[in-house]
Amino acid sequence: MKCKPVSAFRVEFKFYRYAAPALTDQYDHSVANLDDLLNVEEFAALAEAKLEPAAYDYYRNGSGDEITVAENITAWRGLGLRPRVLVDVSQRNPTIDLFGQRVAAPLLVAPTALHQMADPEGEVATGRGASAADIPLVLSSLSTRTIEDVAAVTTSPLVMQIYIAQDRDFTTDLARRAQAAGCRALMVTLDTPIWGTRERDIRNKFHVPKGMKIANLERPGQPTGHRGSGLGEALSWTIDPSLTWADLETLARAVDIPVWVKGVLRADDAVRAIDHGAAGIAVSNHGGRQLDGTIATARALPEVVAAVNGQAPVVVDGGIRRGSDILRAIALGATAVQVGRPVLWGLAAGGAAGVTRVLELLITEFSAAMALAGCAHIDEITPDLIAKV
Ligand code: GLV
Repeated sequence: MKCKPVSAFRVEFKFYRYAAPALTDQYDHSVANLDDLLNVEEFAALAEAKLEPAAYDYYRNGSGDEITVAENITAWRGLGLRPRVLVDVSQRNPTIDLFGQRVAAPLLVAPTALHQMADPEGEVATGRGASAADIPLVLSSLSTRTIEDVAAVTTSPLVMQIYIAQDRDFTTDLARRAQAAGCRALMVTLDTPIWGTRERDIRNKFHVPKGMKIANLERPGQPTGHRGSGLGEALSWTIDPSLTWADLETLARAVDIPVWVKGVLRADDAVRAIDHGAAGIAVSNHGGRQLDGTIATARALPEVVAAVNGQAPVVVDGGIRRGSDILRAIALGATAVQVGRPVLWGLAAGGAAGVTRVLELLITEFSAAMALAGCAHIDEITPDLIAKV
């Protein structure tokens, strides 16, 4: 694979045109020792150097001026912590029950697309990596491997992310397929009536690389190449700008597994989601990839938690890069957090082992943050740990 120096890539990227790489020679998982990488940002730097530039851009892209991408990160960091002292934290328990199973920490792998751009095994490697860390995986419906392939290797809870397509029967079939494959829940994305405008993808003329496919969305005669804005015309059939809450309710009735929703940022929408059958809520702004200028998820979380009032679990994603961010989210009332890009950086840097290492780093950091904040158990992570501004 071609490895560009990061600085050269920055200068050249305006002129870069995406040449789809052959599947055989594009991966480079050679890293002296994954243990030498100490935090998510170090994985991000290595992934940037290893990935094809257009693939890296696709993963890190936000929409518009990428204001929300940046805000997601800074909002967590702006929440000052008020640690308790002289608490016995010698025995800490960061585990929780999620989707009917004890998992290593309040942490999930968020749905992200096209993992074969980072590893030849794609989401199968991600499933192995997440399972080794005992962390649930939310599989994107825009995955390059089928639900069944990923389910076959995954021992931690598997959840399927889904868009409600214009062809409702197609969506119902996909949802039932996920259920049959053993998915513990569906996570329906609500924030995508149309795709956000991602200028890096437009500039790169981004498309699904040769030899890869959107494995769960294959239909006879359906093109899967992308043109224009990344997930442009070719995938427009998979979403529907005319969706309403009634469609959520119909989908929730069509399956026997819980249906979660992703992309909620307001109290009123959280209440509506539960009224229309949602069993769990993901506070998310799609990693800043949809409406640019959307508030950071750290700022949306408290009103959603208050509105849900314990009726359903609330998870949050966007900008979580440290174990202390997980602590902040739990203190604000989240049940757990999801991480998307950090997992992609781990996958690009070291395949399944890279995914495991990134997740274990976050778990270790979270456990240390618990100790330093004076919390031995998850239920001791309370709102008073966050300083009022
Ligand atoms: C897919 O969900 C994307 O944001 O690219």
